[in-house]
Amino acid sequence: MACARQPDHGTPARDGAPVTLTIDGARVTVPAGTSVMRAASEAGISIPKLCATDSLEAFGSCRLCLVEIEGRKGTPASCTTPVADGMVVATRTDRLASLRRGVMELYISDHPLDCLTCAANGDCELQDMAGVVGLRAVRYGMDGANHLAAEKDASNPYFTFDPSKCIVCSRCVRACEETQGTFALTIDGRGFASTVAAGMAEAFMDSECVSCGACVQACPTATLMEKSVIEKGLPEHVVETTCAYCGVGCSFRAEMQGTEVVRMVPSKDGGANEGHSCVKGRFAWGYATHADRVTTPLIRERITDPWRAVSWEEAIAFTARRFRDIQARHGRGAVGGITSSRCTNEEVFAVQKMIRAGFGVNNVDTCARVCHSPTGYGLKQTFGTSAGTQDFKSVESADVVMVIGANPTDGHPVFASRLKKRLRQGARLIVVDPRRIDLVRGPHVQADFHLQLRPGANVAFINAMAHVVVTEGLADRAFMAERCEDMDAWEAFIAEPRHAPEAVEEITGIPGADLRAAARMFATGGNAAIYYGLGVTEHSQGSTMVMGMANLAMATGNIGRPGVGVNPLRGQNNVQGSCDMGSFPHEFTGYRHVSDDTVRAQFETLWRADLDPEPGLRIPNMFDSAVAGTFKGLFVQGEDVAQSDPNTRHVHAALGALECLVVQDLFLNETAAFAHVFLPGTSFLEKDGTFTNAERRINRVRPALAPVPGKHEWQVACELATAMGYPMSYGSAAEIMDEIAALTPTFAGVSFERLDRLGSVQWPCNDAAPAGTPVMHVDGFVRGKGRFMVTEFVATEERASRFFPLILTTGRILTQYNVGAQTRRTENSRWHAEDLLDIHPHDAEQRGIRDGDRVSLASRMGATTLRARLSDRMPQGVVYTTFHHPVTGANVVTTDYSDWATNCPEYKVTAVQVALSNQPATPAEPAGAPAAE
Ligand code: SF4
Ligand code: SF4
Ligand code: SF4
Ligand code: FES
Repeated sequence: MACARQPDHGTPARDGAPVTLTIDGARVTVPAGTSVMRAASEAGISIPKLCATDSLEAFGSCRLCLVEIEGRKGTPASCTTPVADGMVVATRTDRLASLRRGVMELYISDHPLDCLTCAANGDCELQDMAGVVGLRAVRYGMDGANHLAAEKDASNPYFTFDPSKCIVCSRCVRACEETQGTFALTIDGRGFASTVAAGMAEAFMDSECVSCGACVQACPTATLMEKSVIEKGLPEHVVETTCAYCGVGCSFRAEMQGTEVVRMVPSKDGGANEGHSCVKGRFAWGYATHADRVTTPLIRERITDPWRAVSWEEAIAFTARRFRDIQARHGRGAVGGITSSRCTNEEVFAVQKMIRAGFGVNNVDTCARVCHSPTGYGLKQTFGTSAGTQDFKSVESADVVMVIGANPTDGHPVFASRLKKRLRQGARLIVVDPRRIDLVRGPHVQADFHLQLRPGANVAFINAMAHVVVTEGLADRAFMAERCEDMDAWEAFIAEPRHAPEAVEEITGIPGADLRAAARMFATGGNAAIYYGLGVTEHSQGSTMVMGMANLAMATGNIGRPGVGVNPLRGQNNVQGSCDMGSFPHEFTGYRHVSDDTVRAQFETLWRADLDPEPGLRIPNMFDSAVAGTFKGLFVQGEDVAQSDPNTRHVHAALGALECLVVQDLFLNETAAFAHVFLPGTSFLEKDGTFTNAERRINRVRPALAPVPGKHEWQVACELATAMGYPMSYGSAAEIMDEIAALTPTFAGVSFERLDRLGSVQWPCNDAAPAGTPVMHVDGFVRGKGRFMVTEFVATEERASRFFPLILTTGRILTQYNVGAQTRRTENSRWHAEDLLDIHPHDAEQRGIRDGDRVSLASRMGATTLRARLSDRMPQGVVYTTFHHPVTGANVVTTDYSDWATNCPEYKVTAVQVALSNQPATPAEPAGAPAAE
């Protein structure tokens, strides 16, 4: 038997004043605006339907949901009829039954009668409705005109479109418009000739479709169907879990047959996604069972030796022996570890505890160092906590949205769909990005301003925005006076004429008048929200820019309510969580400094260990120390630093100098080439724990499969710590969360039991906020008063020159994910098989480069080759590439410059030269290396 479908009330929920009506004799009270169909459904009365589903606005086309309403003529459709006070509705009468049977008879007369062999047998609403209305015979026969021979479109790698089964209910078309916002589908033709079409394209694969799966989920028949279900059959049980790709943190149902995943379906009650998904979470999960996975521990004496498969016991003993020996010879501080933003909170917590208590050092850092560490620093300085201020739903209340250095339609697609919906409702949009990203102009979305700033000019830009606000009298003085401090010095600074938009035009590249107009819109357009990405943080002034955005939000009073705020779009699934879990060398969980005696004493008491009051090494310091010969042992949890960290040559030199490098991962990655120990990791489908997304939402990750290597990753950390002489054990991941809650005020109310009960919670979750905190800083900032920080613009030392006249900036695309270790092992590579260099046609012409030519990309650090794509999305002087394929080696060219406060690398500004090349796609020197996100 197929597993149960998610509940469907037929039409969306409303939030009007209460209205009471009678349905089939029962009194029902619902909010005004609710449809009769939904009111009935909420009262347990199910009305037959086909074209209605509660994720979409009612359409009223199938005429199956007819009802009778006292005092009204005819039989109105219950999906399009709103409730009214005192209304008396009948949903079951002989007349209605006969009408519904007639409707179904017409549908079935043009539908293949192959239910028993249909892939959707048991999961088809058309089949269900035939049963519900009691259809027993079809009078019309199948001989007349019909669509039964219509050809199937199997071009998409993940789903098929079989028009012979289509009832033209338009749910797919509406899902693509309303839920996804891509508008890839239309209904072609009229009347009997009506058919669903993928726009002007012949096939789905050639259309605008981005394979989000919304139409597949909305389709009530087998017309749009996952290929995995066609191949394997319907799932029979469900495990609720969380996507492991980006920081949106979508909730999913892993729909299973025994121990095999049949499909991933977004959960309608998922707090972050509310039933929507993107192509990665929905379809690109096959890497979890890919043949490349390493499932047994491997060790070797030297990195030139072949790997030897060993038992867990031998691998743990080998590692502990090496680390102990290193510490005996070189001191305690000669070892350390890097935690992963791909792993659960519980796994990260266990690793940092192993390092602090088991290794006895604070040499722990996380991959967030290379992406969002400036967010943590900047927001803590200004607001008092290292996290975004809003939930995603907040964007539904925004009137002006400013997107800075982020490309949500590719990087955070499910959030982008929410944003586009709000924009279609009339919210205004300011895009600040050197590239013309899709949001600038798309179906029914058009940015009011595209401020095409020069890479590296962020702080000059944000200061100019604030300058306009302050000098034109647009500041929210009441908010500033009541809620903030240190504004006098900031105001005096920001009002200086050198920050005027016109004065910084040369630096920003943005016409002063445009910047001024955008600032006015931001300050006066109602609720104004900032969303930003790595185009903000991965700069030498990343932290300054974060503080600059916080200043602007405070100066305009846009903090502390829905629709406003400063919101980092986090790259990896658990970046927020890995930072929360004490992964930075200077902080315990909840961002408390290791030098704080009171906090450290709590940890020492519970952990029964002496802890170092001095901060440990950051990742770049670890690498520098390794090259200098003072750092010898490194444990790397689920990260590929040899690919993802900047200046590959230096990273490789550091890794090559280590006496013991331990890599825990799914695949033998580039870093493993330097490793002495490889410990097999678990995929998200095997993990038991929690991820924390970009809105601080703690979501449960539940194991659909047993851990393939035989152990959970937190168990491995416990065993290694124990072998190092520090006994550490837990009975379950839930116990680890209990310890996190006991030690971390913002997590005090979090437990697996509460998460299972509430679905998810956003921290802070404690006695003051037992159900979590969707919007922060409502009545006061976490640090008391919001603090204005002076944000002086300092140009990066990386400059374009005669030899390196172009600026390279990097980003990612929808179908691939970061270094591509997972997505490259799925059909997603059909959309993006190689990284390309986008270059403005004028820059290309000057160099004699044509579209598709192979070009060399050289910086002061190194060179690589890739194919060029001429693109007028680029401004002149700036080139762009993605970094999903190791062969491209984007980090061969990135520099050592980094954020002054956090050492986050300056990935987004590299001076380069581009020239025609006849070399194959191999980085010149050294090998491998896409930039991190
Ligand atoms: S998969 Fe998504 S983008 Fe493609 S047609 Fe369906 S709803 Fe539209
Ligand atoms: S493909 Fe499915 S959802 Fe779309 S019109 Fe046909 S039956 Fe309805
Ligand atoms: S938006 Fe992010 S979290 Fe959601 S399905 Fe896509 S990759 Fe996964
Ligand atoms: S469900 Fe109401 S008209 Fe189709």
